[in-house]
Amino acid sequence: MDASTSRITNRALHSDAVAGLSQTPKGLSPKWFYDALGSEIFEEITQLAEYYPARTERAILEAQLPRIAAHVPEGAALVELGSGASVKTRLLLDGLPQLSAYVPVDISEDFLHATASDLAADYPALTVTPVVADFMTPVRLPDLGRAPVVGFFPGSTIGNLAPEAAEALLARLGHWPHHQALILGVDLVKAPETLVAAYDDAQGVTARFNLNLLTRLNREVGAEFDLDTFRHLALWNAGEARVEMHLESQNDQVVRVGDELVAFAPGETIHTENSHKYTVERLSDLATSAGWRVDDFLTDADGLFGVFVLGR
Ligand code: TRP
Repeated sequence: MDASTSRITNRALHSDAVAGLSQTPKGLSPKWFYDALGSEIFEEITQLAEYYPARTERAILEAQLPRIAAHVPEGAALVELGSGASVKTRLLLDGLPQLSAYVPVDISEDFLHATASDLAADYPALTVTPVVADFMTPVRLPDLGRAPVVGFFPGSTIGNLAPEAAEALLARLGHWPHHQALILGVDLVKAPETLVAAYDDAQGVTARFNLNLLTRLNREVGAEFDLDTFRHLALWNAGEARVEMHLESQNDQVVRVGDELVAFAPGETIHTENSHKYTVERLSDLATSAGWRVDDFLTDADGLFGVFVLGR
């Protein structure tokens, strides 16, 4: 085995990265953010002063739980997409005694199993069945008997998909057996300064999160990115109604990625994430096109964030 290939320990990441970095403009799939360290840094992001979506969504769920509870049938199984540390979930588990099961779905396997076993210990009456999956591909649910299924898709994760993909995902979720309601957290359009600050905090935590992608490529693909020559960039794309995150090369350079060489011009970026922002109307249209009905809409006093309760 030659020295460079022997360092490729993650073939899927390697082929995805080579494909994404040979396109113009360059891009990488955000799913690679979430290794163990990335998942930890993400939890730090959710506690930042600038990152209003996390605390605002939490406050909405906390203050308006009885209204949500009215949409959750007796014996329901709560299926959460992109559960991460399941922090917000505990609010629902505490406030919805009618739940019989909790199914966290996440791509970060170690993180998922650790939080699932904590939850199983803390909620002995609940059947906790974690599913390791990329929800961008069809997710097969475990056997839940005849329990009505209530989806929980918080954190405005839906905004990380392009609107067409978001609609397709909502439509797919509608085909889960017994899926009756979907609690969907969505960040709303607001002043660009507020939006950009949420993705470019003063402490540089989001920068670390974004740059961790390059650390991961160095470790798992034998890439040779010099992290000092790339910087985190967050910008508001008004036409697409989204915050974009990029990694910007500061100079003219050629970087080895496994067996490939990738050239960067100064100021050239790798587009790593999008966070689409919605108006209530646009999200309602999207949900309706995907075959759902908007049964309820909850927001905070400043209209920063929306929690939609969808039904079929
Ligand atoms: N879905 C959330 C959002 O778009 C969380 C998120 C995904 C995020 N990727 C991110 C937050 C990168 C900060 C940085 O806001």
